[in-house]
Amino acid sequence: MYEELIQKAAEARNKAYAPYSGFSVGAALLTADGKIYCGSNVEAPSFLACCAERNALYKAVFDGHRNFKAIAVTGGKAGAEPEDICPPCGICRQALNEFCDPEFEIIMAKPDGYFIKTLAELLPLGFKE
Ligand code: THU
Repeated sequence: MYEELIQKAAEARNKAYAPYSGFSVGAALLTADGKIYCGSNVEAPSFLACCAERNALYKAVFDGHRNFKAIAVTGGKAGAEPEDICPPCGICRQALNEFCDPEFEIIMAKPDGYFIKTLAELLPLGFKE
């Protein structure tokens, strides 16, 4: 069902800019009206990084999207196939929580399969103003 989204996340991972951590991540976000927005992590010195998930989300929000169905994420050591799943960091979970319902699906993919969790499962009691 989410094969295309997982494939796009893997392709996005090839565009990561991660010279400091050597850890590349790709994400593909599905909007409620069926569009896919991709992102990769982008780093700068002094431990600055913006995650793949937030780069995908902010691109979509900039284009006017406010409703989302799912995001696929894949990551691991740059230049190699991911050895494990890459669950979104806490900041990304909280950023997704601004726009996504508790049932929003987070697909964590690696070459031999994937896990799906809802946002409510990954971020219980997320902060809202
Ligand atoms: N990173 C992501 O892009 N997404 C995640 O879910 C976890 C971490 C990035 C941030 C940083 O560029 C690198 O992975 C290592 O932490």
